[in-house]
Amino acid sequence: MSQVGRTQVAIVGAGPAGLLLGHLLHLRGIDSVVLERQSREHIERRIRAGVLEQGTVELLREVGLADRLLRERLVHRGLELLFDGEAHRVPLTELTGRELTIYGQHELVKDLVAARLATGRPLLFEAPAVALAGLDGTAPEVHYVHNARTHELRCDFVAGCDGFHGISRPSVPDGALTGYEREYPYAWLGVLAEAPPSSEELIYAHHDRGFALHSMRSPKLTRLYLQVAPDEDLAAWPDERIWDELRTRLARRSGFALADGPIVDKGVTALRSFVAEPLGHGRLFLAGDAAHIVPATGAKGLNLAVADVAVLAAAIGEWYSAGSSAALDAYSATCLERVWRVQHFSWWMTSMLHPSPDAFTRRLQLSQLRYLTTSTAAATSFAENYVGLPLSRPSSPQSSPHRGAPR
Ligand code: FAD
Ligand code: DHB
Repeated sequence: MSQVGRTQVAIVGAGPAGLLLGHLLHLRGIDSVVLERQSREHIERRIRAGVLEQGTVELLREVGLADRLLRERLVHRGLELLFDGEAHRVPLTELTGRELTIYGQHELVKDLVAARLATGRPLLFEAPAVALAGLDGTAPEVHYVHNARTHELRCDFVAGCDGFHGISRPSVPDGALTGYEREYPYAWLGVLAEAPPSSEELIYAHHDRGFALHSMRSPKLTRLYLQVAPDEDLAAWPDERIWDELRTRLARRSGFALADGPIVDKGVTALRSFVAEPLGHGRLFLAGDAAHIVPATGAKGLNLAVADVAVLAAAIGEWYSAGSSAALDAYSATCLERVWRVQHFSWWMTSMLHPSPDAFTRRLQLSQLRYLTTSTAAATSFAENYVGLPLSRPSSPQSSPHRGAPR
């Protein structure tokens, strides 16, 4: 026999999307239960994203979740594009007026978990959702397992925030969603090293041997990535090989010393583009990686997850406070405008920075990089996308378009 419970919003997944949604609903007085398949320790240690857009940080600050982030973050105002052995700085803040924050996703998850627990509202770990039912009606249910017992959670809405491999998206009846997808013939090997960053800013490197990225987490922790084969075996990458390859790909003619140190985390991440349309079905709303995936190159996945739940929380709030479903009905279309802009940018940046085996395409890539680093117009367009569109205006560009006279 299942135990039966009830809430207003059942949130599947305690990644950044699910945890932030729970908090935004809490601030509106809306009850939720957050279900997480993994343990607390697991999600608080999982090394992933590190670049937060200004809009993401502003939202976190407005809702009281940014105290530690604002104390510990690194603020970045530019980045380097490295190709042909030379680094070219893109002055992001000078071009857009906006800055970026470096703060580990797992640190943000720790802050979000602590905030949730402080509200006293339920957050269950090691509680996988195993089935969703009644999505077409007005009383959906989430079936989950906790402490070896099955439970039935009745609710008004289900928020599918369970990442790309969760159960929410596959629970939608066949034919109700369309998936748009692109796979890439490479993956990233990512490492976290106890070594001081070797540059003050991120370095995105296009090298004949493959893409490399130098990022960081703190003055003592460096985060580094290498392009590898999609089926790469981690066992083939002892630490010394990783450092050798990074030194080669990050080298520049003027010289570059890469500080090394003990590698404390290592993993291979697939690169993929995916969008499910629409972002939900009936009383189920998909948010974050459950709804869409971008290749990591543009540093957008976490920011997109935050943008989704900001829209979703406001729409659910309107349903409860004004009895209107207009914003919920518009949820998918509202989010998809931003999602596709970010999809294009992430695909474009990925395609430019991972050297093609085809000589013609390789020349096009280098031409694009040269243009980007010599034309203010091109650099501004890149910077506007990289720093991210403001959250309150999901689809409108930041500056007045087309100042030149029409032809
Ligand atoms: P997730 O973080 O995947 O959370 C989903 C949660 O649901 C998980 O905790 C999972 O355990 C849980 N779950 C799954 N199934 C169930 C179930 N059946 N029941 C209950 N719980 C379930 N993004 C950026 O913006 N900037 C970056 O710099 C960046 N760099 C990245 C680098 C790497 C190496 C990787 C892998 C990703 C990076 N991303 C980046 C992307 C970012 O990490 C993701 O987009 C982000 O985690 C999405 O958050 P989410 O809450 O939607 O999903
Ligand atoms: C990081 C990850 C990214 O995907 C990226 O584009 C930049 C930085 C990071 O983990 O720091």
